Amino acid sequence: MFEKIELAPADPILGLNEAFRADPREGKVNLGVGVYKDEVGDTPVLHCVKQAEARLLADEQTKSYLGIDGHAQFRSLVQPLLLGADHAVLIEGRARTVQAPGGTGALRIAGDFVKGNTEVRRVWISNPSWANHRQIFEVCGFEVREYRYYDKAERALDFDGMLADLDTLGPEDLVVLHGCCHNPTGIDPSGSQWDRLAQSAKARGWLPLFDFAYQGFATDVEQDAAGLRQFAAQLDELLIANSFSKNFGLYNERIGAMTVIAGDGASADRALSQVKRVVRANYSNPPSHGAAVVATILGDTALKALWLEELGQMRERIHAMRHAFVAGLATEGVAGDFSFIERQNGMFSFSGLSPVQVKAMQEEFGIYIVGSGRINVAGLTEQNLPLIIKAIAAVS
Ligand code: LMR
Repeated sequence: MFEKIELAPADPILGLNEAFRADPREGKVNLGVGVYKDEVGDTPVLHCVKQAEARLLADEQTKSYLGIDGHAQFRSLVQPLLLGADHAVLIEGRARTVQAPGGTGALRIAGDFVKGNTEVRRVWISNPSWANHRQIFEVCGFEVREYRYYDKAERALDFDGMLADLDTLGPEDLVVLHGCCHNPTGIDPSGSQWDRLAQSAKARGWLPLFDFAYQGFATDVEQDAAGLRQFAAQLDELLIANSFSKNFGLYNERIGAMTVIAGDGASADRALSQVKRVVRANYSNPPSHGAAVVATILGDTALKALWLEELGQMRERIHAMRHAFVAGLATEGVAGDFSFIERQNGMFSFSGLSPVQVKAMQEEFGIYIVGSGRINVAGLTEQNLPLIIKAIAAVS
């Protein structure tokens, strides 16, 4: 029966890694997948992680299974990081968190949970959105639709369009919101816009799911959570899928979490019991190491301070490269106003390059970016920037 199976297309983001590895050219540059690189192009293990791992290696007593919901200390430390320690939701005991295999795993757990336990039938993602969103929720069995998000002409948020679309939804709809550093546009709602979106969810009854993969990459870990915290303050129910791949540099440990907020503690407990069924049926219980690293760091004042410092350094380097990128394009005489690149948040720049230009950058210069024109600014270095600018000038 396998001979009838059709060949699946390569993944638009991770598939680029395979093409990049197979490219024999020296000086090729991978600006596809959202992975942070330092000034010499390495993706190092953070010092706080190395220190936590040394402790874990010395102290680890067992490799026995974790619970279905994962590492207990990790789970209790994730909630205040997301919501702030004094958030009413935590004081009222309305949040339950399960460890998840990365942000993707958290989204899948959320999707399966909602599909099996609520009246939600449609999932709404932004246009554009992270390339994997549609696939995850379609595999969960939802119809996936798009709400307006990006104003191409203004290179800004189409807030009126977004709100108009969300204001037509109701309890059969789940809306995926990017908590900060929208992927791929780098454009986030303002404080008052988040507030208005939360009012829409409350008035219309649609269920929000925050995809929160870049906490700390826009301004800092507290301010980046402002939209999420406003939603949690105004609504009884919401879901959060968060990732520690980027902000702890723990990409291949696959560590994230899925948090359910319910109207009261008893409802939250019942929801958690169903989430645990989803986990048990998918992979039984999660691996330990990434969660133990995050828990060790968040649970130790000195290690947490070191983490925040290292996260700040990553954020600052990305800001500096955005600045150098814009300055370099102007110096090279590339026509157009590229100041929008400096206004975007997070790892990515939505460059406006067309699929034809993206292809030419890859074929002629060995520069790999996502087909949507999304550039991983966190992969720019002083060394590779001149080639990238030259390539953009050539294809423009
Ligand atoms: C990205 O958007 O590049 C990252 O979230 C990595 C991924 O899994 O696609």
